[in-house]
Amino acid sequence: MRNTFSNETQILGLLGHPIKHSYSPFIFNITAQLLNLDLTYLPFDVPPAELKYAVKGMVTLGFKGWNVTIPHKETIKRRLNSLSEEAALVGSVNTVVNDMGNLVGYNTDVNGVYESLLPYKDEIGGLDVTVIGAGGAARAVLYTLIKHFRPGTINLINRTEQRADTLKDYFYNKMRYPDIKTQILFPPRVQEVISNSKLIVNTTSVGMYPDSGSQLFPEAKAFNRGQVVFDLVYNPVETNFLKMAKGEGAVTINGLRMLVAQAAKSFELWTGQEMPVPAIHDAILNYIK
Ligand SMILES: NC(=O)c1ccc[n+]([C@@H]2O[C@H](COP(=O)([O-])OP(=O)(O)OC[C@H]3O[C@@H](n4cnc5c(N)ncnc54)[C@H](OP(=O)(O)O)[C@@H]3O)[C@@H](O)[C@H]2O)c1
Repeated sequence: MRNTFSNETQILGLLGHPIKHSYSPFIFNITAQLLNLDLTYLPFDVPPAELKYAVKGMVTLGFKGWNVTIPHKETIKRRLNSLSEEAALVGSVNTVVNDMGNLVGYNTDVNGVYESLLPYKDEIGGLDVTVIGAGGAARAVLYTLIKHFRPGTINLINRTEQRADTLKDYFYNKMRYPDIKTQILFPPRVQEVISNSKLIVNTTSVGMYPDSGSQLFPEAKAFNRGQVVFDLVYNPVETNFLKMAKGEGAVTINGLRMLVAQAAKSFELWTGQEMPVPAIHDAILNYIK
């Protein structure tokens, strides 16, 4: 890792609360090292009440940009001058670019979802899909599916059904998408819906380290050959959900590809440079292991 700086070292960062477990400092600092760039990326634990001061400080100190994570992804919007189309439609921001004090918000999770699903684009079009979860990550998944993949019915399943209903209304109002069906996360009906879907995406945090043993539903026949199953969780790299899907013959996609792809887009927005994605993917894989 970098341990020397110059008078011109470019500073990037992350605002979140908490941020201890983020992999972003590792990803961006390794990238700077591999590309021999004079930049550093620092994490800042900023509680909600301090966000406006942190943003002012970053502008004053000349940060070129920064990432935003929970709980600031929505509240940061009112501190910015404008939003990209994706950020405006998804309703949240994970990347800010500071162009001489003009702050623009982007949502690069959308790029992460897009890159992860791109190899299966032709298979997904017109067929029913299932998205589990109705939080911030689900918004990026729904936007990407609606905008770029044109599936059939989107089954939106969540523990708290009302949150799923809110998202359904949101995407109807914002994108005029009429074909989202919501339901509560409750077996065995969930498995039935899943088994009739071409693509299944887990956007919940269930299965994430340190609760890697937790499961969305008990082991039961839900997946089959010909399905594509994507879990946004990246630690562990292969969740119980993916193991179950793989065991029943489905093609699986882990959250690591999305993690690196969303970071690559942020990096490009800040520096105009391409991240060496395969090298970073391998580095983070070793780091997690
Ligand atoms: N790979 C990547 O690059 C990437 C990017 C973004 C996010 N993620 C991952 O995606 C996950 C969700 O992030 P987020 O920002 O969407 O979080 P969030 O806004 O807090 O939403 C969390 C979602 O998980 C559900 N959930 C939480 N605990 C649950 C449980 N025990 N049983 C059933 N459902 C449960 C919540 O349901 P309720 O509505 O009922 O609470 C909600 O739908 C996290 O693990 C995050 O690390 C990965």
